[in-house]
Amino acid sequence: MSKKEKTNDSFDSKTMLLSSKSSFSVQEAYKTLRTNVIFSLPGTDCKCIGITSANRGEGKSTVAVNLSISLAQLKKRVILIDCDMRLPTVITKLNLSAKEGLSNYLSGMIEELPIMRVSNLGVDIIPSGNIPPDATTLINSESMVDLVNLLKDTYDYIVFDFPPINIVSDAVLLSNMIDGYLMIVRHGFSEYKKVNEALRQMKFADAKIIGFVYNGKNNDKKYYKRKGYYYRYDYYYKNS
Ligand SMILES: Nc1ncnc2c1ncn2[C@@H]1O[C@H](COP(=O)(O)OP(=O)(O)OP(=O)(O)O)[C@@H](O)[C@H]1O
Ligand SMILES: [Mg+2]
Repeated sequence: MSKKEKTNDSFDSKTMLLSSKSSFSVQEAYKTLRTNVIFSLPGTDCKCIGITSANRGEGKSTVAVNLSISLAQLKKRVILIDCDMRLPTVITKLNLSAKEGLSNYLSGMIEELPIMRVSNLGVDIIPSGNIPPDATTLINSESMVDLVNLLKDTYDYIVFDFPPINIVSDAVLLSNMIDGYLMIVRHGFSEYKKVNEALRQMKFADAKIIGFVYNGKNNDKKYYKRKGYYYRYDYYYKNS
């Protein structure tokens, strides 16, 4: 497979992307998530991880990118597919650009796999491509099945950044190919009824949920008292 090499060197704390500059609690949270995912999906064959949530803006793409980075840090071969062809964000989160991607490949407009290698992260990416008229048909196609089977020969993990379940059915359409879904729930944002509705749809599609990610609970703001001073948890751990 030929890949276009890209380097991303513009991480900062505002982008929400995992790096050595992320706070202690963020780095620990992603290590815990990575460990839980690895133990939930044992075996040596390639594992397909679907990232979804009930509605827009709950942190799916952020978690999908950071989980991919975290798995790659263990020298796992990881590819992240931006399956949100209507409102793609993976490429922009990484501060990169792409002319073509998944939609172009699945609709037969290009023959070469549109894989980008983000070399400094060790993660490969399939961008979403041009916004197609019917993304659901493309996701539900034989070409998508063939693509995933092809990628399985090369990678340890395929991470799928899906659109929200309550908006479009794309995430559950691949339920027979996904080994485990992570449901993202955002602190102070996700609504119980909406999450429940999404879970009902996933159950109906027989989708295997391996866990929930509770996104946005800011542990950095927890303080504890020591010798009359208040310290942040991450500060304490880094310096003790
Ligand atoms: N834990 C967090 N703390 C602060 N901001 C966050 C957090 N998680 C995500 N965000 C921000 O919230 C916005 C939405 O996040 P993201 O794009 O990951 O959500 P999404 O579920 O993929 O959205 P969509 O459904 O539109 O694809 C982004 O601006 C992102 O930087
Ligand atoms: Mg997204």
